[in-house]
This record gives sequence, C-alpha cells and structure tokens, in this order.
Amino acid sequence: MNIKLDNSFYLEHFLDCQALTKTAINQVFSLAANLKANKINPAGWLNGKIIASCFFEPSTRTRLSFESAIYRLGGQVIGFSDGQNTSSKKGETITDAIKVISTYAHAIILRQPESGGVKKASLYSSVPVINAGDGQNQHPTQTLIDIFTINETQNQIDGCYIGIVGDLKYSRTIHSLIEALTLFNVRLAFVCPNNLQLPAELCALLNQHNIPFSYHNRVEDIIDQIDILYMTRLQTERFHADDASNQPPVEVLTPEVLGHAKANLKILHPLPRQAELPSAIDNTPCAYYFQQAANGLFVRQALLALILTPPEILAQSVNVSKGHV
Ligand code: CP
Repeated sequence: MNIKLDNSFYLEHFLDCQALTKTAINQVFSLAANLKANKINPAGWLNGKIIASCFFEPSTRTRLSFESAIYRLGGQVIGFSDGQNTSSKKGETITDAIKVISTYAHAIILRQPESGGVKKASLYSSVPVINAGDGQNQHPTQTLIDIFTINETQNQIDGCYIGIVGDLKYSRTIHSLIEALTLFNVRLAFVCPNNLQLPAELCALLNQHNIPFSYHNRVEDIIDQIDILYMTRLQTERFHADDASNQPPVEVLTPEVLGHAKANLKILHPLPRQAELPSAIDNTPCAYYFQQAANGLFVRQALLALILTPPEILAQSVNVSKGHV
C-alpha cells in the first residue's frame, strides 16, 4: 500500500462536499479505517501544529472529536466553545476574527450560525479552514463520517437504498450528505413533514446526477426495502415564525416498525436526537448511531492528517489501501 503524494486535501480549506471526488473520499476512508483498526500509529503527524477550534454554535461531538483527534496526532488546540466569550460580543466581525486567528494557528475549525459564513470567513484566512457546520447549509465532516459508516455497515455505498427522515429543509447534515451521495449509485427515499422538504436546488442536483428519489408519508412505507435509515431531529432553532406556528408532529421510530426491516438495515443519526429516536431503539441490532459518532474520531484524524501533514511524511508512515468505495 502507498499513500498518493497528490493529496488534494493538503493545505486546502474543507468547506463543503461539492468538490469531493471518490479518490479523495477513498483517501480519507483508507486512513480512517487503518486508524480505527489500530494498524497505523498517527502520533506525531501534527507535531508542532496548533489548531484553532472556534465554535460560535453549541457542539458536543464535532468539537470534542476534532480536539481529541488533534491531541492524538500530536497537535495542540486553542479556541473557544462559546462565541459569547469572544470579541464578537463587542461587535467584531467573523472576517476580522478569522484574519487574526489565522496568524495564531496552522488551521481553523469553524462552526458558525450563518449559512455560507464559513466559506466567507475562509476568504480572510491564511491557513486552511474546516467547516464544522454553517447554519442550515453544510456539515461536510459529518458527511464523511456518515458515508464512512454506510460503507462500514453495508460494505459498499453503491447500490444502497437510503431512507432520509426528519427535517430535510434545515438539516445541514442532510444537505451535505445529499451532495456527497451524488457521487454514488444510490436510491433515496424521503420521509418528512410537507413544510420541511428538501430545498429545490438539492432536488435539482439529484436530478442532474440521475439519483432516483421519492417522498413517502411514513417510515413504515419504506422500512422493508431500505438498507440505511438516516434520521434527523427537527432543527427548531432554525425555524422561521411560519415554521414554528406550523410545527409538524414528530414521527417517532418504534421497535415494532423495525420488525419489518431488512436484516442488513442500520439506523444512523448525526445526533443529538430528540423524540424521533427513543432510547428503546438503542439495543436493537439496527442501531448504529453511537458507532457512527465514534467513527468521528477516526475520520477527523484522517482529514486533519491529509490537510496538515506533509504528504511525504504521511506516505512514510502509512500504507493506504485502495478501492475502498
Ligand atoms: N453531529 C453533530 O454535529 O453533533 P454536535 O452538534 O454535538 O457537534
């Protein structure tokens, strides 16, 4: 095995899933799988590197898995988990903040509430910026975790029939996932309230890539056909007044519904969850969302290494397998 020196991630921003290729995804997956299997020792890949972890919105998984990944790679973390404790409270713009922070760190992991805000901020950064979630727009590192986990559970992504349930209008994890899935030969089934359907531009993207998709009223209607059930919570924090006054009832998954599932079905959820995914599901063989969250560590280690470790150093210490997806 050998890692390609033409690593397209190296010293680049990682802002969305639009520019992803299968080759790039394979590089992340191969590294992540080897890290997960403990086949390679990543200590030292980020030696001497300081990463700024800047979260203007709450986070548990994204922030802590990134920070754990950085420490495991030998790097150091600066940053904040609450923008209210920064000079944004005194009116400083995100662009001014990023201009300054990029002189203190070798990369910036940024979550902030404005759709497109991370891309805008990246224009003012002299170091790579990683999008850790921007409003309702994108959450591309979550998507790498999601498709890594689909591949892990189904041994492939091509051919999968994927049910996507919940808030298709505001869920950034769904928006990123849809973009990435256009690289694969998949079928999609959507279950969501009428007022929370997928934005028109993402439907157009699916049509452009000839990805078949259909809307269904209930999970029961698709449960006996799908391979992956990707659930999300309602993103009520992003609801506008008319969404809030029109708040739909939440469809709650039950063990009875799962009684009709295919043997290979796995349930994914980016978490945090709400009523849609009760803890009664956790001990069923379909539940895979905590393993999905755990994969965040390996996928984010892989991504950080590809962005920040010189390819020749990475190539010396790892042996990346080919043909993963
Ligand atoms: N999935 C996810 O982004 O979780 P956090 O908001 O806890 O980071």
